[in-house]
Amino acid sequence: MADTVTFTLNDKNVTVPKGWTVMQAAKQAQVDIPHFCWHPGLSVAGVCRFCMVHVQGARKLEIACNLQATEGMIVRTDTPEVKEAHKWGLEFHLINHPLDCPVCDQAGECGLQDFYMQVGKYKSQMTRPKVLKPKAVDLGPRLILDTERCILCSRCVRFEEEVTKTGALGIFDRGDRAIIGTYGEEKIEHNYQENLVDVCPVGAFTSKKFRFKQRVWFLQEKSSICPGCSTGCKIKVHARTDRRTYYRVKPEIDETVNGFWMCDKGRDTIAHLNREHRLPQSQMRIDGKKQTVPTAQALESLRRAIETAGAEETALLVSAHYTVEEYEAFFHYFCDQLGVTKVYQWRAETEDRDSFDGILLRGDENPNTAGLRAAMRRVKGRTVPIKNEIATCVSKKPKVVVALCPEVPFTSPWFQEDLKQLAGISHVSLWTCRYEATEVAGITSWIPMKGFAEKTGHFLNYEGAKRELQEAFPSATAEALSVVEAVQQMAAIATITTETATL
Ligand code: SF4
Ligand code: SF4
Ligand code: FES
Repeated sequence: MADTVTFTLNDKNVTVPKGWTVMQAAKQAQVDIPHFCWHPGLSVAGVCRFCMVHVQGARKLEIACNLQATEGMIVRTDTPEVKEAHKWGLEFHLINHPLDCPVCDQAGECGLQDFYMQVGKYKSQMTRPKVLKPKAVDLGPRLILDTERCILCSRCVRFEEEVTKTGALGIFDRGDRAIIGTYGEEKIEHNYQENLVDVCPVGAFTSKKFRFKQRVWFLQEKSSICPGCSTGCKIKVHARTDRRTYYRVKPEIDETVNGFWMCDKGRDTIAHLNREHRLPQSQMRIDGKKQTVPTAQALESLRRAIETAGAEETALLVSAHYTVEEYEAFFHYFCDQLGVTKVYQWRAETEDRDSFDGILLRGDENPNTAGLRAAMRRVKGRTVPIKNEIATCVSKKPKVVVALCPEVPFTSPWFQEDLKQLAGISHVSLWTCRYEATEVAGITSWIPMKGFAEKTGHFLNYEGAKRELQEAFPSATAEALSVVEAVQQMAAIATITTETATL
């Protein structure tokens, strides 16, 4: 028996796996069918009755989300009857929906607005006043619910039942009094709250962190990988490049790793990228005082320190927050070219690395433990156990330390405390994006680094899968470098210095 079916959708032959619905097939064939309650990551509810299509031979219109595609079926999404059904579907959804688009956070990415422009545009026949319902209900640490805007599609209820399995939401009351809510005074407290904002097709659920911060049409999106843990969820970072400001993170569909979701911790991985938290320019401690210097000067001073101390007195302290490409460049220059052999990992002293919450979040709060491990195996010629080695590094009494610092502050709150251990080493060069690094005594120089959203490359996640940071924003601080760029600059300075010396 064939395990695919072929049918006709708007005169187009479409072949899909057996068991697929017309809605799934239409998505694959890039035919738009207006819908509210259907979501590819949730079960079918069939409650909005908006996805009507015409099936040749059927007595009435059918809903595409719950209609299995069968061999030879002839389906149309553009007949006058279908268009009329969409118009009336919208009219019913808008009966009690407030017309507060100008102040609604969802404006610009709202299902109601989009479909009204696409298939609506009619004069409403509704003359009775709208039913008023609770607005701006505090439903959790990250959530606000405006029950008037809700169209009762039940996506949020299904998310709570099927994904987090917390079942915190329900539809209470009946008819035009029906509202979404939690049981009693309960709040939604889990680590996946903002997926409710993502699945809500209108502006009923909004994010406390993002609401009223920015109009979505001013934002640019870039595809990246969340640096919050070793799962490596695919994400879209949203920022305003004209303001060099990052605003929010959303999940990007990736069937192999994160599906349609991401956790709330992951959404907090951009705050540190904004200018107020960044090391804007290179700094050096000169005669005991911190001074802003050209990056070339800080790198030249590091190069001289290594030359004076010797490669055997130099140590590299490396966190697992950088890309595979950055490790390649870093180790190639310092180990293969300069001959440094002392290489140490820098990570949390205590971590529940193998823990997993059953959905996405893992206990290893580094995005590229596997990538760093592979790079270290190459330079050391053996597999290294995963552990924090800052104390071992200090115990070897190096004269120079080059440190690739952890990037995301909430996954490395131990950062400043750990740095205190390096006091007493003659030359410590921190490569970091974090301004707080300059508040630690005993450091010689600071080189400003790009954040994860400002570079391309890849991480290896907990199972060694390649997670690609596909697109990069210009850095929020003009002088920030990737490790690859910093190493290239350092190598170029060394070449110029050698050439000048031989003239
Ligand atoms: S709050 Fe949003 S997701 Fe939940 S039922 Fe209402 S419209 Fe649907
Ligand atoms: S599970 Fe990990 S990688 Fe995914 S969003 Fe959360 S912190 Fe980021
Ligand atoms: S999307 Fe089909 S009934 Fe709602």
